Amino acid sequence: MIVVSTVEEMQALSADHRRGAVFTMGALHEGHAQLMRECRKLIGSDGQLVVSIFVNPTQFTEADDLSNYPRTLESDLALCERENVDVVFAPSVTEMYPPGLELPQFSAGALGSVLEGASRPGHFDAVATVVHRLLAITQPHVTCFGEKDFQQLAVVRAMVQAANLDVEVVGVQTKRAEDGLALSSRNVRLSETDRKSARAIPEALELAQRLALNGASVSSVEQQTCEFLERVAGVDIDYCEIRSNDLISDIQAGEGRILIALHLGGVRLIDNAPIFIKDSNP
Ligand code: PAF
Repeated sequence: MIVVSTVEEMQALSADHRRGAVFTMGALHEGHAQLMRECRKLIGSDGQLVVSIFVNPTQFTEADDLSNYPRTLESDLALCERENVDVVFAPSVTEMYPPGLELPQFSAGALGSVLEGASRPGHFDAVATVVHRLLAITQPHVTCFGEKDFQQLAVVRAMVQAANLDVEVVGVQTKRAEDGLALSSRNVRLSETDRKSARAIPEALELAQRLALNGASVSSVEQQTCEFLERVAGVDIDYCEIRSNDLISDIQAGEGRILIALHLGGVRLIDNAPIFIKDSNP
């Protein structure tokens, strides 16, 4: 495994292989490992798997969040080594944003101000912009993003389409703990009691899917799912909404996504799942 930290070093690497990229901010866990494995499947054993580790300052809306963000390079590199990563790209902030260099800026548009974007103004513009830069530097044929951050995946797809980039963006199913909780670096911040309560999130998603299968309308599924979560001690719901797969619009029927965000003991958790709403007026 090669570890590089500059754009020049990254670009000097041989381009003979089919290249796959997984972009991360480090603090790697089994969810990231899953992305690396899926990406490896797509590029083949002789492909070149690139993982970036860069804590992007521009996408943080709170200065404290940025300074408290875990930096665990040593164990991150060990995980990459274990997952047969070929190249780790771990640049500095000035390497990514060189002073005096005007980089293309992207706007997430309407998608940037709903759901997660409602409480994090500018966050998705910054994500689209840094992912564009990472794609330009690493030049992959394929890049994998987790469905856990479904809105981020939608923003990246929209940016790639708008910029007409020649890269395949693949969404990878959320990796879950045995009890169904989506893996996240935030889970370790939950107390033992809250960790048990967090099991209610995947349960709520399953409940929503069941209600929809039994013919419940969008508003009824949303309401009953919300009520289920409200009964869990310590839960403070941010949103529990059904949307179209591109997340831009509401739906009344057909395929969509149910998305949940809540606080539990001061920790913000998100999750989502596909849902099919039957047409009540066929
Ligand atoms: O999901 C993340 O870790 C980050 O948002 C990403 C995609 C690496 C951009 O900084």
